[in-house]
Amino acid sequence: MSRRSEFFRERIPVRDETLRELTNEPVPNHMKRWWFALGGTPAYLFLVMIGTGILLASYYQPGPTTAYQSVRFITEEVAFGWYIRSLHKWSATFMVAGIILHQLRVFFTGAYRRPRELNWMIGMGLLLSTLIGGFTGYSLVYEQLSFWGATVASNVADAIPFLGGFLKKTLLAGDSYNPHTLSRLFVIHAALMPACMVALLFLHIAMVRLHGVSELHFPDDTGAKRYFPFVPDHLFSEIIMGLVLMIVLSTLALVLPASMGPMADPLTTPEVIKPEWYFYVAFRWLKLFPATVAVLSMGCIVFLFLFWPFVDGWIRRRRPGSELSVGIGIVAVLCILGLTVWEALVAH
Ligand code: HEM
Repeated sequence: MSRRSEFFRERIPVRDETLRELTNEPVPNHMKRWWFALGGTPAYLFLVMIGTGILLASYYQPGPTTAYQSVRFITEEVAFGWYIRSLHKWSATFMVAGIILHQLRVFFTGAYRRPRELNWMIGMGLLLSTLIGGFTGYSLVYEQLSFWGATVASNVADAIPFLGGFLKKTLLAGDSYNPHTLSRLFVIHAALMPACMVALLFLHIAMVRLHGVSELHFPDDTGAKRYFPFVPDHLFSEIIMGLVLMIVLSTLALVLPASMGPMADPLTTPEVIKPEWYFYVAFRWLKLFPATVAVLSMGCIVFLFLFWPFVDGWIRRRRPGSELSVGIGIVAVLCILGLTVWEALVAH
């Protein structure tokens, strides 16, 4: 043993067998299908977002007189600032899309069922934290749309009975948009949500390790070897996935770089206010019903999604063998898609 390895072995007393055991998790063969292993995609994008976010944060200055100028400085003056900002923005879009696809896979393969109910709930925590991160990030630029988007969101929060006033105050750092609002949004975006996500991700992956990935067998999966090792096989696939994603993100950053709209004007409401695509469904819902009804019904739907594994368990106990959950899932997906496309197509 070299002196260097001896030095480290003495200070980090981990045995070879322990290390092998920790990294050699047997992965079921069906995880070779990329859509089964989609959980690794948002995990990788989260790392890209943290890296690019740290670089952006070293130039961003929250505040109504500084935010817009600092984003313009990043985009136009800082070396590769436009690239880092575009990577950050595109990673956010891909991360939300990746989480939705991963959640769909988990739903339609029933991977949330006993004993993985709690991991589904942790996943819902990850989804909500990502959405809050996306919303607060969008608000930081201090463009017309970011300003009015944050104003609309705070009014929506205000419509929640009992909690609304508190939530609005927490979001805006006051009763209405004020000079401290951007600092508050920045702290939520760059510190609070990433911290929540790191904690939730740790729990999520720990639960995957404790339970193992759910087992499914496909007709073409006939080989005697039903598992493959996490290191190096699965790790290599994830690295290749990461490289492909980086090429796609860089191409999008070149072809469709993050742009800037007009600076926020608190006295002029824009004719059209549109959030990011992943909020289209909620935005359309809000336009269909009075604010309190819309907010309460959305809360109930999120609650239902959160506790879905238990609702599904109850349905299956009452109607054994029925796949009613799959039908409910298909209807839910069609409704979400329909409302999203509707909001995308109409100007107002
Ligand atoms: C940042 C977001 C997320 C990340 C990085 C992530 C990561 C992962 C990873 C790496 C796995 C291992 C299997 C795979 O790759 O599919 C996994 C499994 C799982 N995830 Fe997620 N996940 C996220 C969000 C969610 C969401 C939103 C849900 C559902 C609400 C969810 C529910 C589950 C469940 C139940 C499993 C176990 C599946 C099985 O054993 O087959 N996850 N997740």
